[in-house]
Amino acid sequence: MEKLVINGGKPLCGSIDISGAKNAAVAILPAAIIASKGTCYIDNIPNIEDVHCIERIIENLGCKVSIKDNSAVIDSTTLNSYNANSEDVKKMRASYYLIGALLGRFKKARVEMPGGCPIGVRPIDQHIKGFEALGAKVTLEDGVVTAEADKLIGTNIFFDVVSVGATINVMLAATLAEGITTLENVAKEPHIVDVANFLNSMGANIKGAGTDIIRITGVEELKGCSYSVIPDQIEAGTYMIAAAACGGDVTVNNVIPKHLESISAKLIEMGAEVIENGESVRVISSKNLKGVNIKTLPYPGFPTDVQQPMSTLLCISTGTSIINESIWESRFKHVDELIKMGACIKVDGRIATIVGVDKLKGAKVEATDLRAGAAMVIAGLIAEGVTEVINIEHIDRGYPYIENKFNKLGADIKRVSYS
Ligand code: EPZ
Repeated sequence: MEKLVINGGKPLCGSIDISGAKNAAVAILPAAIIASKGTCYIDNIPNIEDVHCIERIIENLGCKVSIKDNSAVIDSTTLNSYNANSEDVKKMRASYYLIGALLGRFKKARVEMPGGCPIGVRPIDQHIKGFEALGAKVTLEDGVVTAEADKLIGTNIFFDVVSVGATINVMLAATLAEGITTLENVAKEPHIVDVANFLNSMGANIKGAGTDIIRITGVEELKGCSYSVIPDQIEAGTYMIAAAACGGDVTVNNVIPKHLESISAKLIEMGAEVIENGESVRVISSKNLKGVNIKTLPYPGFPTDVQQPMSTLLCISTGTSIINESIWESRFKHVDELIKMGACIKVDGRIATIVGVDKLKGAKVEATDLRAGAAMVIAGLIAEGVTEVINIEHIDRGYPYIENKFNKLGADIKRVSYS
């Protein structure tokens, strides 16, 4: 096993490059299997465990896949199975995209129920509602989702909740449905637009991604294409928050500043300086950041995936901050770990009240999930003394080269093996 050992208290200065977006890549790789002709060449793929997991899964289904140096080459003409049942499938949430992709390609999918971060109940009723509306028969038995249809027929689907996963999944299935599918009350996250752009590059006809309504005119087949994944909004936000927390001056490169506006706005409200410049955002911290209130919301609101890193910053900001986590019911598992380091936080259901303290102190803490892990790394960077973060396999699922990127900015983080 490995842990991160962080010698805290060093300001962060300099610049780093942000990788391709995890939550776009883990949808685009399954989407590639819909292509029945040609090869997909996809750049800016982040080097993270979730990507390697999807790589193994689609290889198991018969695709030829090679991912090297952030580029993926996928030949899915050899795809020969609709049955996704490997251990990897159960490990990650994004394997639910195989249902939409396989249903689109073969009109049949059998996929083990996906795992993912323990951040609350993660239903897929809206995905199922969408597939059924397209004409599929869907069953969920013993943790296995089976979906099949003689043919998929376009229709109007109004989602009851705004769901990233359901929007993408139903979009995948509908690309090859007969006629027009209209999806209403959809998610508008940057990775929704990225997946739609990727599908369009393969020959799909999708309009409206990034707005509340997506219209998909079914086509007969998808073909290979060349594509580049967008930069990771959440990774960028994490480094911006770390810069503000450590009293630094950091430029994050290879970003789309528009995707970061809700995060930039909060940092500015707290007293940090945020300067956008083309494809970069520079964050200059101030000594006295003040606490703020945050409510997590679907895009363009403040992202739930940045809530945990942000809560670490609020621990050392002056005054009282209130976080309302409106997306996930159980996304405060990192709070107990922050308290071990001297934070003053009370959680009541989906509300966390944070009273700023002067400093955090190094401690042995745990990454309870992916973004909780990032929150603990930032806590270790701020803290006096040494912090050890265990269970970092969660962090490796979503943050490429985390210790290298922080060390380039002046941090002192070592990855240490232990048994
Ligand atoms: C995606 O999860 C992301 N995961 C999550 O990122 C992210 O937190 C979430 O979107 C919200 O932005 C991936 O992209 C792989 P949802 P997803 O469907 O698609 C409810 C990270 O840290 N809901 O948008 O599973 C659900 O309970 C991860 O990178 C239903 O009720 O999230 C939640 O309250 C963690 N029925 C809300 O909608 C459904 O059928 C939003 O969930 C589906 C969802």
